[in-house]
Amino acid sequence: MNVCFIMYPWKEIDPENDTSLALIKECVKRGHGVAMCTPANLTIRNSVTTANCTVIGRMEKTPTSLKSFYNKAKLREEMLPLAGFDVIFFRANPPLDPIMLNFLDSVKDDVFIMNSLEGMREANNKLYTAAFGDAHSNIIPATHVSKSKNYLIKQIKESKADKMILKPLNGFGGSGVILIEKSAMSNINSLLDFYITSGDGSSNYVILQDYIEGADEGDVRILILNGEPVGAMKRVPGKEDHRSNVSAGGSVQKHTLTKTEKALCKQIGPKLVNDGLYFVGIDVIGGKLVEVNVMSPGGITYINKVYKLKIKVEEKVIDFLEMKVLDKLQAFDRRTRLRKTVQDA
Ligand SMILES: Nc1ncnc2c1ncn2[C@@H]1O[C@H](COP(=O)(O)OP(=O)(O)O)[C@@H](O)[C@H]1O
Ligand SMILES: [Mg+2]
Repeated sequence: MNVCFIMYPWKEIDPENDTSLALIKECVKRGHGVAMCTPANLTIRNSVTTANCTVIGRMEKTPTSLKSFYNKAKLREEMLPLAGFDVIFFRANPPLDPIMLNFLDSVKDDVFIMNSLEGMREANNKLYTAAFGDAHSNIIPATHVSKSKNYLIKQIKESKADKMILKPLNGFGGSGVILIEKSAMSNINSLLDFYITSGDGSSNYVILQDYIEGADEGDVRILILNGEPVGAMKRVPGKEDHRSNVSAGGSVQKHTLTKTEKALCKQIGPKLVNDGLYFVGIDVIGGKLVEVNVMSPGGITYINKVYKLKIKVEEKVIDFLEMKVLDKLQAFDRRTRLRKTVQDA
């Protein structure tokens, strides 16, 4: 099959730890064609959705290490029509550009897109979890989203929690996630002004969430493929930060899913599949869901490092894509045969 990864530029890849690179390498190893482009490389050429792609040359023998694969890969540039691919694997970082999605709308019936465009539209920011309809905080911690400073201050004052988390709707990698303590409210007015008001005068929604006790000991990243957990790791924050993101200084440890975490996956798995969110990374603290990452969930390379898995996570992901492509081809063959039967009658 031929797979187009829509992602960040090749030179921005971390050759030792990048999850997209692990997925690309698995495709190349299996002999699949791989091209990459950035969202900004999408073009319409004579009314056909095309991308200025970086194509990876086929390899006789794929190096075992990610770093040598990165160094040895032969790249060439080519303009290719998107509808000619079997799979579009979306791996770009947030925020999601809605116009870019319109380019992909034009090929969504021809190509299997992971995650689905509808799913990415729905879950492209942290409102997806905030609006789970979980009034009793069984799945997510008590959460409020608003642009109103007065409303947010009132919620902080009324909350039973003495610590709360404030974060932007669109951040990733821990950016803008801050801890506020009720005992130190003197900065809150200024902080909320900063979060809510943009430089251009427009306003932003802000998330206010109960701080989950135990978060200082780390959070759990679970990768979910087709509704089932396929890998997990614990991320422990560095000494001088409250956030567990690896990009914010967190370190990675082995983790076996607890009963509560397994139950959480069972509870949300069917919704994820139903929303076309086939490959996501969820962040869990104390059994509560903090975030669903749908655009470019990471963690595969760290999970591979801390576990000695017989079947690596990237193998399961590419198995899934192969299955989806086969289903599509078989459905097409079947319809061609049936059409011929009717035509010949
Ligand atoms: N409600 C919360 N309670 C405690 N810690 C939190 C909470 N929300 C976020 N954090 C900490 O901040 C990190 C980043 O938050 P998250 O919502 O996952 O945003 P991002 O998209 O930036 O990863 C989490 O991994 C966790 O360590
Ligand atoms: Mg996160």
